[in-house]
Amino acid sequence: PQVCWLAPEQTAGKQKPYMYTQGQAVLNRSFFPCFDTPSVKCTYSATVQVPEGFTAVMSATSWEKQKDNTFVFKMSQPIPSYLIALAVGDIVSADVGPRSRVWAEPCLIEAAKKEYDGVIEEFLAVGEKLFGPYVWGRYDILFMPPSFPFGGMENPCLTFVTPCLLAGDRSLADVIIHEISHSWFGNLVTNATWGEFWLNEGFTMYAQRRISTEVYGLAYTCLEAATGRALLRQHMDNTGEDHPLNKLRVVIEPGLSGVNPDDTYNETPYEKGYCFVSYLAHLVGDQSKFDAFLQAYVNQFKFQSITADDALGFFLEYFPELKEKGVDSIPGFEFDRWLNTPGWPPYLPDLSPGEQLMKPAEELAELWAADSLNVEAIEAVDITAWRTYQLVYFLDKILQKSPLPEGNVERLSKTYPKISKAQNAELRLRWCQIVLKNNLEAEYGKVKDFLHSQGKQKYTLPLYRAMWGGSESARALAMEIFSATAPQLHVNVQNYVKKILGLEVAE
Ligand code: BES
Ligand code: ZN
Repeated sequence: PQVCWLAPEQTAGKQKPYMYTQGQAVLNRSFFPCFDTPSVKCTYSATVQVPEGFTAVMSATSWEKQKDNTFVFKMSQPIPSYLIALAVGDIVSADVGPRSRVWAEPCLIEAAKKEYDGVIEEFLAVGEKLFGPYVWGRYDILFMPPSFPFGGMENPCLTFVTPCLLAGDRSLADVIIHEISHSWFGNLVTNATWGEFWLNEGFTMYAQRRISTEVYGLAYTCLEAATGRALLRQHMDNTGEDHPLNKLRVVIEPGLSGVNPDDTYNETPYEKGYCFVSYLAHLVGDQSKFDAFLQAYVNQFKFQSITADDALGFFLEYFPELKEKGVDSIPGFEFDRWLNTPGWPPYLPDLSPGEQLMKPAEELAELWAADSLNVEAIEAVDITAWRTYQLVYFLDKILQKSPLPEGNVERLSKTYPKISKAQNAELRLRWCQIVLKNNLEAEYGKVKDFLHSQGKQKYTLPLYRAMWGGSESARALAMEIFSATAPQLHVNVQNYVKKILGLEVAE
């Protein structure tokens, strides 16, 4: 059941069916017989025969098309089962760099090429400079049908991404940089159990922001990290800081009371994990020394699966003077506390280098939250040159201050069509959240359109939560949208939405 079979209407081109697999965390056991744990790695090969007019792609280091529409794939490096992935559809490719091409349905291929032509190689080169050789040969990107539940999935050699990334202005490249970062953290050095998923995602967030700092500079990267921190805040507010999932080390157990590894996909392993790795860097105190450590860490554990104890043990071995000082047991910042206590991170990296970008957005949000609007001051702020993440940051502030005084959101909507009519998915998500929190029924159509247009989990669940926690009409909207779109959603996402809406989930 976890192999996704899509009818033609569920694709971008709407002409031919499509199928794809999503292995992480524990879905590949229903795709092929395997030791479906990230602690076991092996090479694989696969022979896939498809109907005429279809192309098969896999997360493999080499492939060859033979007669009778048969594709033969080989992955020559050992990988965990969750990284084996297959997609079949009407897909074509275009080169975007010396070792990279984009794959997409024919109707999307031009847009895909335009979005990433000439930039992927720079991300890879910076990653190699920071973390050591890229061992996977090619780095290709497959643009998935709209119902793909993730922003990106780091299947080796071939990252799968949501078509929402096709924003037309490269503004969502952080997702690509994130998936590239998994080439070292996650795919080379792998968490041995899903209970320590933060080892994959926390180190990857750190690596992503290191690459981003090199490519786009510190100010922009701090701004992006601030939006990440806001997501962590929202998540902890929703679940309660003390929720057992808000620990970096989660206890995964079988049975009714146990945690399903898929449920660990929330902001804690990402953003609290990022804070912990940033804390380690802060203890070292010198960026180039910490970069050298990360490279040594990859080299030490490449092609292995490790626990947090292995990683932290290596950290202390690598910096004996820190071990000597007992940095693992500084009161309030004990490594053990980081791992085993739920709640807000005890250390937050300094994001003030992003202030030049965040301040204007904060001030503008203040103006819009006032009881009587200072129109002159508002009109004096020109947002036409703001980058997407600056607008995202502004909208997050508006959302935090919502509901705004009567009439302000309508006015904001008219003042900034660039925001309220945006096609960029990150902006659409925030706008929909604002619409719901202010119960702006006139704009419900935007929520409906957005949820009909894509099925990414991180966009879908917050909107259903907002609808279900809102007015009668918002609840009715949730039911209406879900009954129309459920068949298009990935089964995991379907089940999570059902839980939010209090509907029965089949085991
Ligand atoms: N590996 C994850 C996606 C994932 C996690 C799939 C858990 C299944 C279970 C991927 O690398 C990821 O983190 N994607 C993010 C990107 C973002 C943090 C830039 C996403 O999809 O939002
Ligand atoms: Zn990731």
